[in-house]
Amino acid sequence: MGGDGDGHPDGEPKRKEKLEGFAFWESIGRPKFVLAPMVDQSELAFRMMTRKHGVNLTYTPMLHSRLFVENPKKYKKENYESDPADKPCFVQFCGDDPETLLAAAKMAEKDFDAVDINLGCPQNIAKRGHYGAFLLEENDLLRRIVSTLHDGLSCPVTCKIRKVNSHNFQDTLNLAYDLQAAGCSVICLHGRTKEEKGHHTRIADWEAIKILKGRMDIPVIANGGVETYDDAIKCLEQTGVDAIMSAEGLLENPALFSGNTVSVDDLAAEYITFAEKYPPVQKGAVKSHLFRMLHPKLQVHTDLRAKLGKSHSFAEYKAVADEMRSRTMGPHHSQTGWYRRYRKNEPPRSGSRPTDHSSVPVSHAGASAAEQPQGRAEATEEEEGGEEEEGGDVSTVERESKRRCPDPNPCLAQRGEAWAAEGGERGGESGGKT
Ligand SMILES: Cc1cc2nc3c(=O)[nH]c(=O)nc-3n(C[C@H](O)[C@H](O)[C@H](O)COP(=O)(O)O)c2cc1C
Repeated sequence: MGGDGDGHPDGEPKRKEKLEGFAFWESIGRPKFVLAPMVDQSELAFRMMTRKHGVNLTYTPMLHSRLFVENPKKYKKENYESDPADKPCFVQFCGDDPETLLAAAKMAEKDFDAVDINLGCPQNIAKRGHYGAFLLEENDLLRRIVSTLHDGLSCPVTCKIRKVNSHNFQDTLNLAYDLQAAGCSVICLHGRTKEEKGHHTRIADWEAIKILKGRMDIPVIANGGVETYDDAIKCLEQTGVDAIMSAEGLLENPALFSGNTVSVDDLAAEYITFAEKYPPVQKGAVKSHLFRMLHPKLQVHTDLRAKLGKSHSFAEYKAVADEMRSRTMGPHHSQTGWYRRYRKNEPPRSGSRPTDHSSVPVSHAGASAAEQPQGRAEATEEEEGGEEEEGGDVSTVERESKRRCPDPNPCLAQRGEAWAAEGGERGGESGGKT
């Protein structure tokens, strides 16, 4: 009989019974507020910071299963962050080969509470790599992927999907049924199709999410269109989901899920402290976060925007944040915030406009941001980020970035930034020129 008391008489180690679905959800404390997976942006430092402000489930950025398996040591060093304090946390992988995904997931399962499969990436690089949202119509393959991971892992497998198409929601439901039957423990639905990205971003379809929630026997997470705490509560109420996931709303306001108003200056300073404690493996992440949190003010204080663009050390980041604090004060919400950069005139979803005009920063000349020439913001985006990008495959994108960016640092416009095209982002302020 094999070694420890957990052994079967035939010597096979006995596997601990794996919790699934709602039993698993209970075991991780029935989280309500979720930080979305974001390449380069849901790094450990940001995960820990958002936890302090109400997030109770985090996701890692998407990891590429094949690249991970090909060179685990190098890939881990460059992309992988875990910490026992970051619990519960789901590690996300992309890929199209069940065995490769399983091999990659097995190297990570001990560090995380579940393994998530990315079925939402809408970018061309995912199309070329055959992963993300480009698998949404391949139900057979997805069933095999989920059941392989379900059988082979000691932790649950979860899926993050988008609406399969805009004309027949039954296709999305059928996919969700298939995933559930194959062993998926939690499903997250982003209420948009893969075509609804960038400037084609539409309001997220909460009605679809509500229908899905009504049909599933496993926990459902809603994603899309949450930019305020009121939105989050409204989405919970309207859809009946188990939890709400936010990406860009949290980038703009890491305290979104707390329901409290925290000044951008405090948030920026706090993030720098977290980043010092948990230095991101992707160095550009720090700058990128600061650009997003400080977005409305940086549109006015363009000298500080340039200074932040040139900053590389924590001391330099702090100097910019301190200078910004001394020039402007106020809560973070504003019509000019990051989340709304392409939809400034769109009415609020929840009725509670995130705008707080007291926060509209005052320029050197004394004019409010709203009074700045309209063309300025446009020019700013061109200056700062250039083109809208495709993204996803971290290493490939990094190679690309080295080819295309004059600077040796990975150009976020060509890495995680590209992901934000889901929500309409251009390469952006986040350090595209770093
Ligand atoms: C910078 C950035 C990186 C992203 N990276 C990922 C990722 O790695 N995996 C994933 O499933 N979705 C990724 N997404 C999509 C988000 O998780 C989320 O589905 C999308 O932004 C919609 O949510 P929101 O309306 O709250 O922003 C990314 C989004 C952004 C903005």
